[in-house]
Amino acid sequence: MTQKVRKAVFPAAGLGTRFLPATKASPKEMLPIVDKPMIQYAVEEAEACNIKEFIMITGKSKRAIEDHFDYAWELEENLKNKGKKNLLREIQRLAKHQFAYIRQGAPLGLGHAILCAKPFVKDEPFAVILSDDIIDPDDSLLKEMIDISGRHGATVLALQRVPKAEIHRYGVIAGTEVEKNVYKISDMVEKPKASEAPSDLAIIGRYILTPDIFSIIEKTSPGKGGEIQLTDALKSLLQKKPVYGYLFEGKRYDGGDKIGYLKATVELALKNPTVSKQFKEYLLSTISPMITKEQP
Ligand code: G1P
Repeated sequence: MTQKVRKAVFPAAGLGTRFLPATKASPKEMLPIVDKPMIQYAVEEAEACNIKEFIMITGKSKRAIEDHFDYAWELEENLKNKGKKNLLREIQRLAKHQFAYIRQGAPLGLGHAILCAKPFVKDEPFAVILSDDIIDPDDSLLKEMIDISGRHGATVLALQRVPKAEIHRYGVIAGTEVEKNVYKISDMVEKPKASEAPSDLAIIGRYILTPDIFSIIEKTSPGKGGEIQLTDALKSLLQKKPVYGYLFEGKRYDGGDKIGYLKATVELALKNPTVSKQFKEYLLSTISPMITKEQP
C-alpha cells in the first residue's frame, strides 16, 4: 500500500447503554475526559498522522458531534470580544478540517458501519478509529500502523494482550510474529469464549484498511450477535491477501466501560498541565488516609 492514508472513519452510532442515563440524550462520544470529548482525542490522533478527512458514522441523538466539530459563530464572537484568544484558537482549530457525517440508520454492526463510509472513502486506504478505545495521546500507535501498512502494502490491525477473563469482549487473532511486535495473521474470531480463543491477542479499535474490504463486507453474512462483523470480513480478506497485526504495548483505556473511562480521566488529568499539580495533591490527600486506615 503505497498510497497515503488521508481519511479516517469514526464509527459513532452506538447507543452507549453502558453509560445510561448520561447517554440518554447525548452521545457517549461526547463524554468529556478532562476538557475534551472522547471523540476529539480520536480526531486529534488522526490529525497527528496528517489525516485530512474525517468521516463520522453517526445515528439518532448524535447531532452534538456535528456541532462540536463545526464553527460556532456566536461563541466565537463572544470569546473575541472578551479577548480570550487562546480559547478561540482552540475551538476554531479542528473546524478547519473536512468532516463528513453519514447516518447508519440501523445498528447492523461494525462491518456495516464501515460499509456506510464507502462513498466517501472511494478507492484509497483508510484508518478506522473506535473512539471509545482511548490511546494515550503521547503514543504513536496509528503512525506506526500506517508505516507497517505502507511497508507491507497490507491491512494492519492493532492488537493488545488481554487477560483470559476479558477475551470474550474482543476479536481475537492467531498469527506468527514476523518482526518485532508485527504478526502475520492466520485466523481471527469475533468475541470467542475464553476456552475457544486462538490466543490472548485481542484486536483493539485501530485499523488501517484497504478499499477492497468494502466488497467483502457486502458479501459478509451477519455473525456474532446477528451483526455484520468487521472481524468476519477481515477473516475472508485473509484468504486472499496478507493481514498484519501490530502489538501495541502502550497505554489504552476502554472508554466504553465505566472503570476504563475513570482510569482515562485520572491518568490524563495527571498529565494535563492546567490541572495536574492540584489534582495530584487532591488524589494523594484523598487516598493516603484510606491506605493508612487499611494497614493492619
Ligand atoms: C469491536 C470489534 C472487536 C474489537 C473491539 C475493539 O467490538 O468488533 O473485534 O476487538 O471493537 O474495541 P465492540 O467493542 O464494538 O463490540
